[in-house]
Parts: sequence; C-alpha cells; structure tokens
Amino acid sequence: MNDRMMKAVLYDRYGGPDVLYVGRVPRPEPAPGEVLVKVRAFSVNSGELAARAGRLRLFTGRKFPQRVGLDFTGEVTALGAGATRFAVGDRIWGVLGRTSGFGSAAEYVTVPAERVGRVPDGLDLVDAAALPVATTAVTALRDKAGLRPGERLLVRGAAGGVGNAAVQLGRAYGAEVTALARAANVDFVRGLGAHRALDHRTVRPADLGRFDVVLDTAGPTCGPSGAC
Ligand SMILES: NC(=O)c1ccc[n+]([C@@H]2O[C@H](COP(=O)([O-])OP(=O)(O)OC[C@H]3O[C@@H](n4cnc5c(N)ncnc54)[C@H](OP(=O)(O)O)[C@@H]3O)[C@@H](O)[C@H]2O)c1
Repeated sequence: MNDRMMKAVLYDRYGGPDVLYVGRVPRPEPAPGEVLVKVRAFSVNSGELAARAGRLRLFTGRKFPQRVGLDFTGEVTALGAGATRFAVGDRIWGVLGRTSGFGSAAEYVTVPAERVGRVPDGLDLVDAAALPVATTAVTALRDKAGLRPGERLLVRGAAGGVGNAAVQLGRAYGAEVTALARAANVDFVRGLGAHRALDHRTVRPADLGRFDVVLDTAGPTCGPSGAC
C-alpha cells in the first residue's frame, strides 16, 4: 500500500454490522490549524449504529462508501500550519466534528487542534476511547442540571455509553444515584456506584419516588405495562 492511502472501515449499503469492511481511502493531510492523528482506538456509539442502519439517511444521504467512527484516541503525528497546542507524539483524544462527519475507524484522522485534548497519564488509549461520549454526561449533570451533593439523581439508560458515566459522575458529585437498566445490567450499574439499581422493564414510574435531577438517555418510550 502506498503511504498516500490508509485502511479505513467502510460500508456500501445501510444495514447491520455485516455491511462493514476494511477498505482503502486517501490518507488525510492536516490543513492549517489541524493535527494529523495516528488512531490507536475508536469507540462505537449508539448514534453511529442508527446512521449505519440507515435510520438517519435524511442526514447521511445515499452516497457510498460511507465511513464510521466519531470518537478516537491516538498520537499526534503531524501538525498543520499554526497548530501549536500539541507536539508530535502527544497522546490525545477527541471527537470528529459535524463538518468532517464519520471516519475515526481508520489509521489516521485530521481534526482541528481545538477539538482534541491530552489523554491523562496512566490512562490506556483503548480505555480512553470509550470516554468522549461520556462528556455528554458532564455537560448534562454539571453544566445544565448543576447537580449538587445530596440531590437525588435518576439515570435512565444507566448501562449505556452516556448513562454509565452519569452514574459514576453522579456518585462523584455526591448525589444519591438511582439507576435504571435492563435486569442483566443491574449488577453492572450497581458496581459503578449506583445506590439503587432497578430493572427498567419491571419498575413503574410511580414506584421510583421523587428526584431532583433526571438524566434520560433512552427517550420517552415506556413498555406496554407502563414500565420504563
Ligand atoms: N448530544 C450528544 O452530545 C450525545 C452524545 C452521545 C449520545 N447521545 C444520545 O444519547 C442517547 C444515549 O446514547 P448512548 O451512547 O448512551 O446509548 P447506548 O449506549 O445505546 O445506551 C442506551 C441505553 O438505553 C437503555 N434503554 C434502551 N431502551 C430502553 C427503554 N425502553 N427503557 C429504558 N432504557 C432503555 C439501554 O439500557 P439496557 O441495555 O440496560 O436495556 C441502553 O444501555 C442516544 O440517543 C444518543 O444519540 C447524544
């Protein structure tokens, strides 16, 4: 393979995970203000699954092949003009922006330097790749809800990408955390620090009590029995 090309995960039609394959695409060059990143790991979040399945085709269109991956970790390997915040070799994490679209499931990505940050020392790059999606929980609990110690927090979808971070953050912020997850995930979310973990398929809203802050990552659907 010549060094102007790289491997990337692609798909030529909407569908399940079986539509994915590893193909070749041009290796990107960093524009002014951008860094070129050698990708070490990327995560798959739920919005991407919806895109690949074709449920967002109003936005994703009908042009193929399409790419996957938004979140990533890796090392800076080149700097565009004026990208002075980082040095070659820095371990960074980030999220691709709306303009670049999907594509972190690849050997390299280019990204504006302000969209990436340094991975804390001691944090493995594979583990770190699961965390960018979790920044939504920081925005929701700290910045929007202003969660305070002693408040009662309910996290719906607590085993998910955003929810599992919300449970841990809620606990770290000193809240009394109730987590809703499917039965198989109840022990998992309890292990993350939830004071109370309940099966969302059987518990009824009226049985939950009152909360100061509710973070609902699952949406407004409730089951036929009224369980949520
Ligand atoms: N705006 C942003 O910045 C941003 C960023 C990231 C995500 N999001 C959005 O946030 C939402 C969650 O994302 P995510 O990555 O955390 O998704 P995820 O990993 O798929 O987690 C969603 C969780 O919802 C639970 N769930 C599904 N159906 C449910 C139901 N009927 N009742 C109760 N719980 C149910 C599932 O729990 P069980 O498996 O335990 O059943 C699952 O763990 C998505 O809509 C995503 O697009 C937005």
